[in-house]
Amino acid sequence: MHGHTDETERLAEQILAYAEDRFRLEGASAVYAENQALRWISDLAGFPARAGGAFVQGGTTGNLSALVAARHTAAANRGGERPARWKVAATSQAHSSGKRAARGMDVDVLEIEPDAEGRLRGGALREAL
Ligand SMILES: Cc1ncc(COP(=O)(O)O)c(C=O)c1O
Repeated sequence: MHGHTDETERLAEQILAYAEDRFRLEGASAVYAENQALRWISDLAGFPARAGGAFVQGGTTGNLSALVAARHTAAANRGGERPARWKVAATSQAHSSGKRAARGMDVDVLEIEPDAEGRLRGGALREAL
């Protein structure tokens, strides 16, 4: 700090250190609250105890995050072995942001015929694969 006394400088440093501590504490509270809310939602959905996640802003970012996490998990389940091309299965009813996310991840989209209610069903997926 130019043109200030040592005392002013020390005071400014103390204020900044205090603010940093406050942010760290409040950040930890937010992470705790997020984990609690995710646990509650996971339990309601019947997901296993090891299920977790993160809240993100907006559906587009959520879809991208979910697809990146799914690819990461799929790679781990295959012992780190990766296919020549990853594919995401979706029906024509899927939100366009999913296809954009796949394009951004350089992943192919496998279009599946939806059932009469617009759902992607296992049988149709098996057939397409
Ligand atoms: C399934 C789904 N994905 C993505 C989006 C896009 O959300 P956003 O505009 O918040 O990115 C929507 C919006 O309705 C949605 O329903």
